[in-house]
Amino acid sequence: MKLLFVASECAPFVKTGGLADVIGAVPKSLEAMGVSVKVLIPAYPALAELVSSGNAVMRVPDLFGGPARVIDTRAEGLELLLLDAPHLYDRPGGLYLDGNGADWADNHLRFGGLSRVGAKIAIDGIGAWRPDVVNAHDWQAGLVPVYLRQAAGRTPPTTMTIHNIAFQGLFDPYVMGALGLDRDLFTPEGFEYFGRVGFLKGGLAFAEKLTTVSPTYANEIVTPEMGMGLEGLLRSRQGDLSGILNGIDLNVWNPETDAELVATYSVRTIRAKVRNRARIEERFGLSSDPDAPLFCVISRLTSQKGLDLLLDCLPGLVGRGGRLALLGTGEKTLERAFVAAASRHAGSVGAIIGYDEKLSHLLQGGSDAILIPSRFEPCGLTQLYGLRYGTIPVVARTGGLADTVIDANAAALAASCATGVQFSPVNAVALDQAIERTIALYRQPKVWGGMVRRAMRHPVGWDQSAAAYLALFEDLVGPE
Ligand code: ADP
Ligand code: GLC
Repeated sequence: MKLLFVASECAPFVKTGGLADVIGAVPKSLEAMGVSVKVLIPAYPALAELVSSGNAVMRVPDLFGGPARVIDTRAEGLELLLLDAPHLYDRPGGLYLDGNGADWADNHLRFGGLSRVGAKIAIDGIGAWRPDVVNAHDWQAGLVPVYLRQAAGRTPPTTMTIHNIAFQGLFDPYVMGALGLDRDLFTPEGFEYFGRVGFLKGGLAFAEKLTTVSPTYANEIVTPEMGMGLEGLLRSRQGDLSGILNGIDLNVWNPETDAELVATYSVRTIRAKVRNRARIEERFGLSSDPDAPLFCVISRLTSQKGLDLLLDCLPGLVGRGGRLALLGTGEKTLERAFVAAASRHAGSVGAIIGYDEKLSHLLQGGSDAILIPSRFEPCGLTQLYGLRYGTIPVVARTGGLADTVIDANAAALAASCATGVQFSPVNAVALDQAIERTIALYRQPKVWGGMVRRAMRHPVGWDQSAAAYLALFEDLVGPE
């Protein structure tokens, strides 16, 4: 089996969120099952060195306004195809946003180009290597199934994976000309989304199979509350839609070997976590107090993540003796509000605004609990890292959070199976009660210790889910 992944980010090379973690991890598990996986991503400036060390295996004389090459290379256990198109990707700034925080004005060309080349590789292959299936991830790769639909002759089947339906890649209809899109497909059954061109919509309309990143989210996105206007299409394709839970890279996220920790630990040496906690206290300007549970947040600061609710709960969290260390970046109003909260609750609340991969590991390694009050969460990875690091997840009961954390209700505690705390509905009152419940559990060392050990043993790797993807791809290809 040969697979082509098309995506806009991939850890550890370029990352803004969980998509990168998934793209950087699942191919390794699939390879271990004998599958050949190549990952096509744009050659952003951070990949310049890899570009110069690889081989050019495909040339496109004019990819929407400039020449492009595909560079084949292997790094960090991944087979990478880097789309080197300087006019699209070689610029300072973010992957999707310019220096002022606005979408790049040519994002339709940047990710239309990624999809165009993905489709070309699907058809022409790379040398003798031809993919049996193409897996397109999120809106940035959404036009792959569309271009394949437009192509004549035999094309491989595609799977469209939704990591977040809130980001759809919507553009005005004039882009159809520049992107070479067939206007006959600009219909509600095709890539039209309420009068605009929808990249994700097109992918969902034309891919053979659809997946998303947790079973609960697969059920949620067929409803008007969570489908963001795509629920009708998704409902009509429910037979092709499945939810396959994300896993984590157990080598990158391993408290026994993590180089970012002051003290590594296992399920038998959990007490070593306090040394990591001391470093967090230093970094975040928190008072040192072994009796005060330390909550952390590691998150994009957007309304999806529900952290505005946490602001309302801070007096309660601090009043009950809790502390908070927040690492995040995103909406300026939230950034400012957490910085202000840190000075209001000096010593009990600390906020570092920014993106810091290393610090995110330390936070998992030294905090007692991680707060994830998301309004929606397709899967979520930080609760999985939390489980693995014995950092108890306190989560909204939605999407993948609902699927991965076992709430410490009376029955689950009696049956010794709780691994965290869930709350619902997603509002400040319920979050406040969840925080209160977590602190009460923390004050019962035997109960808390049992939860931490169970959390650390909870299976969070990729094996099972990679097998589920493989079964889906095999189903698409049919008997050889
Ligand atoms: P999403 O993809 O919606 O942002 P996930 O929970 O799936 O949410 O993945 C987020 C990923 O990004 C995790 O690996 C998390 O550790 C990381 N992350 C988020 N914010 C930061 C930050 N400010 N600094 C470092 N890592 C972060
Ligand atoms: C998205 C979602 C997140 C998910 C990640 C990886 O960014 O917001 O819930 O874990 O993709 O699939």
